[in-house]
Amino acid sequence: MTRSTITKMLWFLFSTGINIILSACYNLTKRFIGSERHGPELPPGNMGWPYIGETYQLYSTNPMSFLAKKQNKYGPVCKTRILGCPCVMVSSPAAAKLVLLTKAHMFKPSFPISKERMLGRSAIFFQQGDYHARLKKLMLRAFMPAVIRGKVSNVEEIAMSALQSWEGRSHINTYEEMKIYAFNVALMSMFREEETAVCMEEIKKCYHLLEKGYNSFPIDVPGTLFHKAMKARRCLEHIFAGIVLSRREIKAVPCDLLGSFMDDEYSLTDQQIADNIIGVIFAARDTTASVLTWVVKYLHDNPVFLQAVIAEQEDIKREMREGDRSVLTWEDTKKMTMTSRVLQETMRMASVLSYTFREAVEDVEYEGYLIPKGWKMMPLFRNIHHDPQNFTDPERFDPSRFEVVLKPNTFMPFGNGIHSCPGNELAKLEMLVLLHHLTTKYRWSLAGSRKSNEIQFGPFVLPINGLPIRISSKEDTNN
Ligand code: HEM
Repeated sequence: MTRSTITKMLWFLFSTGINIILSACYNLTKRFIGSERHGPELPPGNMGWPYIGETYQLYSTNPMSFLAKKQNKYGPVCKTRILGCPCVMVSSPAAAKLVLLTKAHMFKPSFPISKERMLGRSAIFFQQGDYHARLKKLMLRAFMPAVIRGKVSNVEEIAMSALQSWEGRSHINTYEEMKIYAFNVALMSMFREEETAVCMEEIKKCYHLLEKGYNSFPIDVPGTLFHKAMKARRCLEHIFAGIVLSRREIKAVPCDLLGSFMDDEYSLTDQQIADNIIGVIFAARDTTASVLTWVVKYLHDNPVFLQAVIAEQEDIKREMREGDRSVLTWEDTKKMTMTSRVLQETMRMASVLSYTFREAVEDVEYEGYLIPKGWKMMPLFRNIHHDPQNFTDPERFDPSRFEVVLKPNTFMPFGNGIHSCPGNELAKLEMLVLLHHLTTKYRWSLAGSRKSNEIQFGPFVLPINGLPIRISSKEDTNN
């Protein structure tokens, strides 16, 4: 018997032993708790393996079918175990409303500690109470319609230059390109152009390293992705501290996110500002890029709606020509009714944030079930968006479903309640502006279309390989 065979056998015996011990402890604890507990029961559902639970099903296989199967088997409130934590998944509009809105004070935000370290402990996502309310006010002040209507031309400039950079390329990774676009829009909404001009490449490099380490194993020793990401994070903090310092020297407060953070009567610390700048880039970029990638795919696959969007955008172009205007205005974007419905339907179908996590701060009773203190709650946006009780024929792409008023709490692409998305108006604006230029100036086809209906996960649900496409200018093909 070779040395490696012996090692394998010993390892097998060891891991089997550990599993048996863990299972025994788990069953004993379950029996003990079961016999002691009176009153409401835990929700139905399988918790999966001891400790590991159903983590693999959620992260490594197809989470969409896992989430759907769970709901079909156990109903809209069911239990599971993810990353070592007991969780309750909820997939009814009423339960999601309770967790996110009406009883939000009983459910605090919940993230693994490594994510908090990486994004910054003072970032908005991890907060509750007064500090959260203050941050939210400052963000909404920078992203409210009255402010971002003044940024339409900046967004348009970024969209046009993004699309021009795609021209003449035989293979465009839609998701990667949309990430660059959303990143540039996010930075524009926070800083003045001259503040980032000199350090732009450094910011991109550091953010790229941060992104690579975000989902890595959280071991902070030299050489690991996590360590490199933490180093890149410190570098970003340093860059943003420099910008804050130089801004303190100018008198006028610009109408952007940094301006809002710095013009706070209680004034945020440099650390709080850096954490929230990094946090907003994080929240703004991949979400918007995923929706834009899906809309390119859905419009490609649904020529009738593509033609309707083109017609609407051509009408706007005609009006601009007649009014002797060359740049889009906020009012133009408000006329994009069909395009907005296509975006709504894309957000419903793709549900790029399929679920979120909260943690019960005390025992909560819901529909006769007990949700014990410390358990995670997972409102499943995707399941709500794909439930035939909420949307007829839910797997069909049909923007016309948004012509009528929806049932309450059935459509939550930007979340609900106190932690709902403060950047939703900016996100809608940047998506509409990009679609205006994409649909009026270009045609696109799928490159590598053989697999175009396959999906990739991790952490966002995306078309396979980020949707490779080719584009051609309408002007070139018309000549
Ligand atoms: C289509 C694009 C976007 C989608 C689908 C989206 C979706 C969401 C959702 C569902 C939440 C709530 C998460 C939860 O309850 O746990 C959220 C929160 C948040 N989003 Fe967005 N978002 C988008 C774009 C943006 C943009 C462009 C920004 C900023 C410019 C932004 C900033 C934030 C922030 C800061 C939060 C945390 C709010 C809090 O904790 O109070 N998002 N987003």
